[in-house]
Amino acid sequence: QPLILQTLASSPDGKIPDTRELSFNGTSLSSTEAQSVVRAVLDSLASKEMVEYKQITTTTYGLTEEGEIIAANGSHEFRVWQALPVKGAGEPIGLPDLSKLIGADIAKVGQQRAFRNKWIAKDGAGFVRAVEAPSDETADQVKEIKEKGDHSRGEAITKELQKRKLIQPRKHIHYTVSKGSQFSTEVKQLETDLTVEMLQSGAWKDASFKQYNFAAAGQPTDGGALHPLLKVREEFRNIFFDMGFTEMPTNRFVESAFWNFDAMFVPQQHPAREMQDTFYVKDPVKALRPDPEYYERVRKVHEEGGYGSIGYRAPFNRDESEKLLLRTHTTAVSTDMLYKLANQEGGFKPAKMYSIDRVFRNETADATHLAEFHQVEGVVADYNITLGNLIAFMQEFFSKTGNHKLRFKPAYNPYTEPSMEVFSWHEGLGKWIEIANSGIFRPEMLEPMGLPKGVRVLGWGMSLERPTMIKYKISDIRTLVGHKTDLDQVKKRPAVRLEKGDD
Ligand code: PHE
Repeated sequence: QPLILQTLASSPDGKIPDTRELSFNGTSLSSTEAQSVVRAVLDSLASKEMVEYKQITTTTYGLTEEGEIIAANGSHEFRVWQALPVKGAGEPIGLPDLSKLIGADIAKVGQQRAFRNKWIAKDGAGFVRAVEAPSDETADQVKEIKEKGDHSRGEAITKELQKRKLIQPRKHIHYTVSKGSQFSTEVKQLETDLTVEMLQSGAWKDASFKQYNFAAAGQPTDGGALHPLLKVREEFRNIFFDMGFTEMPTNRFVESAFWNFDAMFVPQQHPAREMQDTFYVKDPVKALRPDPEYYERVRKVHEEGGYGSIGYRAPFNRDESEKLLLRTHTTAVSTDMLYKLANQEGGFKPAKMYSIDRVFRNETADATHLAEFHQVEGVVADYNITLGNLIAFMQEFFSKTGNHKLRFKPAYNPYTEPSMEVFSWHEGLGKWIEIANSGIFRPEMLEPMGLPKGVRVLGWGMSLERPTMIKYKISDIRTLVGHKTDLDQVKKRPAVRLEKGDD
């Protein structure tokens, strides 16, 4: 680096015309190897814009093995002429004897060329000299090339000699160098950023800055992707919005047993409450107590009945009610919302509400079950609505998801009466598949909340995973959620349109 920078600094026009003329510590840099070192140095200086350089490629010629022989002994035709006697001064010599004298190859080619040049003539069965002293052009040309690497006789001769394989080209690379915009005899580190420190200290005045490379390709960006469950959730959400439903706040994953079970008139002895079905929370140990009057009405309806019911006639335990758990259904949220609806300012008003969120059940994971999944739930509260309204709501809702043929089967839920399982005809599978659970909430659940007597509440619930798996043809739920999720598939799966009903 210093050699090149100093040479540029001291050259009157600030240029190095030919880097082969440089010498380093007394050694010439004219060789090919030296020039490749020069190239590396120039590259690094040019990247700092201290120099600019151009590569120059030149060609010289060297002799082939045959060319060397000609340079030393004369051309083949000359050798033939040389070997022959002057006419009358000796026996003419034929090709076989010439071959013995100067070699078969040289004799054959040389005899033809010498004859064409009229250097020799036929005399009986052999040849004799025909001129006194031929001028051996070929040997002269080859000798000049050997000396100078090229000759002064024009392109055609070069081509001819190359064709005759007497010479071969050699490529040489060298460089011309001039000062760059950041030229200096000292190599400075180029700054890539203007920093606060440089501004404060004034160092920016002496700093050299690296130019921006606007042509550089940027890093490929990795875009995010919606999870299939979220895409299907969006579809359900839009259907609910179309039907005039509002979304319930489902951000509370930890609920009390009171809201998840008691308030819904699920008996405290119900098997779903067992540890093997429900995840209980150890810490904090107890839930905050609900409104004591409401709690008392709930306790009473469980133990003694009321509102036309005989209750469970089983002991109701406060500790059981205050347990904290991971909600097992989003109906816990609906229950809380119905209680609020009954007790809001200005009293009850009809409502259509929905939720789509996560619930937890203590299940062993397999291809179709996980310990957590999502529920889609719709709830309608109004005066004097009937089972017919529930069926009509579900028919409208499910037809918007592509399920046009529904069947309803009586079922049991502790908190609804009547209750119905919903089946849909699956064209692809050729059978009825269960898609939802539904019912009309019991007075034992609604009346302790303070809802007016004529108010009926109907609802239906289903999982979000099931329709998602059907839509995306996923057979193992564990590839959809959890540590085995196939992220690549998550990215590739297209958006879905439920209303097409094409599965
Ligand atoms: N909570 C019920 C379930 O978990 C679904 C449901 C919601 C049933 C509303 C009736 C009314 O399956």
